[in-house]
Order: sequence, then C-alpha cells, then structure tokens
Amino acid sequence: MAEIRIEKTAHPKEKPDSGNLSFGKYFTDHMFVMNYEKDKGWFDPRIVPFAPFEISPAAMVLHYAPEVFEGLKAYRRPDGSVQLFRPQENIARMNRSAERMCLPQIDPELFMEALLALVRTDSDWVPAGEDTTLYIRPFLFATDPKLGVHAPSMCTFAIILSPVGPYFPEGVNPVKIFIEKEDVRAVRGGTGFAKCGGNYAGSLRAGERAEANGFAQVLWLDGVHMKYIEEVGAMNVMFKINGKVVTPDISGGTVLPGITRKSCIEVLKDWGYEVEEREISVDELVEAAESGALEEAWGVGTAAVVSPMGVLAYKDVEHVINDNKIGPLTQRLYDELTGIQWGKIPDTRGWIVKVC
Ligand code: PLP
Ligand code: COI
Repeated sequence: MAEIRIEKTAHPKEKPDSGNLSFGKYFTDHMFVMNYEKDKGWFDPRIVPFAPFEISPAAMVLHYAPEVFEGLKAYRRPDGSVQLFRPQENIARMNRSAERMCLPQIDPELFMEALLALVRTDSDWVPAGEDTTLYIRPFLFATDPKLGVHAPSMCTFAIILSPVGPYFPEGVNPVKIFIEKEDVRAVRGGTGFAKCGGNYAGSLRAGERAEANGFAQVLWLDGVHMKYIEEVGAMNVMFKINGKVVTPDISGGTVLPGITRKSCIEVLKDWGYEVEEREISVDELVEAAESGALEEAWGVGTAAVVSPMGVLAYKDVEHVINDNKIGPLTQRLYDELTGIQWGKIPDTRGWIVKVC
C-alpha cells in the first residue's frame, strides 16, 4: 500500500468558537487527496493544506456530474480521545456508489488509513462542546478534460473535515416536514441508493420550496406511484404506529441505505421492538396520524442524528405528531446512539474505531 505523504500547513487557521458552529461552514487546516488514472491506478496519496483544486474547465464532473461522496463523524470522548462510528460502512457504501457511477473503487484499507491519518493530523479541530463533532466528507469525482460522454478515466479522491454543530437549527427539537407531491428523487434502476451529488442537485428545488414555506426538509414519495414513503432530504425515516416501528423497505434501490438507519434497527431489535421494513403508503401514514395510531415519527442520519418529526404536511393539511414533542422512543434512541458515538456508554457491538 502506498505511503501517505504529509505536508503540514505553515499557516494554521484560527478555530471557530465551538458554541457557534452550525453545519459545514468551517474547514480544518488539512485535506487528504489522491489521484487516479486508468493506466496507473491510484497514486500520490497525500495530506496537504486545505486549498482549492485546479481542474480543467472541461473536467467531466463539471458537465456530467460523475461524483460520489460520504458523510461520517469523529467524536470527542469525555476522556479527550477521538473515535469514529462504523467507518467501514461508509467505505463500503462509497465503493457501491462509485460502482454505479463508473468511478474507480478505492482500496478499503487505504481509505481507512487516510481517514485515520487525516483526523489525527487535525485532531485538535475535533470540538468538545455539547452536540458538536468533526464532520468528515470523503468525495470522489471525475476530472477527464473531455466532453465525450464516457466512463471516466481520471479522478480525484479527497477528504475534507468540518467542525459542526447540529444539522438542523432546531437541534433535537421536532422539525416540520413537507411531503413532496411534484418532484421525485429516485426511480427503480436509477441512482437513489448511491450517495451521488446529482441526487442532491435534483432535490434542491423541492427543498427550497419547502423551506420558503417554513419546513425543514421534504419527505420524498416513490417516483412511480407518488404513493409510498421513501426518505427525507438528508435522513431515513421511521414511524411508531400502534407500538410497532415501521420504516420503508429499501430493497428497491431508490433509497439511500443509511448507516444510522441500520444501526437504529439493530438497537430497536435488541430492545425487543418489532421493526417492519415494508412499503408504507402516504395514505396509511395520514390515516395513522389522524386516528392517533402514529405515536412517533423521526428521521435518522449522520448529520441529523435522530431527529423527531413534529409536523407532517400533506395536501395542505398539517398533521401534528405527539403534540409536536420528542417522543419517548425517539429520545431513547437518540440517547443510546449518541451515547455510543460520544463514548458515554459502552460500545457492545464493535461499532467504534478509535483514532487517537
Ligand atoms: N438519506 C439521505 C438522502 C442522506 O443524505 C442521508 C445522509 O447521509 C441519509 C439518508 C442517512 O444516511 P446515514 O445514516 O448513512 O448518514
Ligand atoms: C450526512 O448525513 O452525512 C449527509 O450527507 C447529509 C447531507 C449533509 C447531505
């Protein structure tokens, strides 16, 4: 495996106040970069000062968008050490996303080495304030300076780091969600399961409309019938209906297979909850909200953690869930997951990777 070269910055930046981080606004002193050419494979893995890239105006990513990314976090434990949550899952998902977009695979061992080396290099950027973390954004894009539409043969893989606070300004308070009826995010055979930039580009219009009307994000319906619940803009969704947890089945390939979702399902099953992964129609959800059978609704994701949904708006009706308060199961899941992630409760499932 190629050795990672480290070039430290001569001009470390001033760190932001950890009480005022918001999401994805500040970046650390360094980044990881390596390049790919079809004949050479990956080469020159390096940690260098955070700086702009130079790419051709003809670079393929700027025209046809072959780009995939990941999102994970480094957490500061009460004893001051730093850890990651299930990074192997992000590495595997990035390679699945890359395969869908004809981008090259990255050796999982080198990927892990790069994550650890970069977070160690900038470990003094991992914030210690409540609900703060160092968000890690690996991304991979095609740089071929050619306008023909073909699979890429030149790429860049990079990792940048951003100290963050809560994704939603609401923090762990319930968010208002708009069930989108016009735009769709994904269809069978498309790229829904891949974490590719294009999925997010196509979602911006609906997201902006929802925000302008006071909603935090949209809840997507399936792209064929506009009937079945899929996921929210940056999180998977779960509902507690009549004591059972239900979450959309993701086997159709239209929903991002969230690592937080997978972890929550495991935790819920360990607690003895029945978890149904199945089709959930929007009509079923609205009926359950109206009858009171819908006890709790929440979203799950790396950035959003476990986020209660207090209002679901559909066809001009706002359905309020659990009096717009966080429900007991949502709170319990939040406490369990964040407890493991921040090292406040023991990790009994082998989910934690220590960094330093
Ligand atoms: N769905 C979408 C569209 C997302 O962007 C995310 C965030 O990564 C998720 C779901 C949740 O995935 P994970 O829990 O792996 O962060
Ligand atoms: C994440 O949760 O890591 C995400 O990528 C969500 C969003 C910021 C795109």
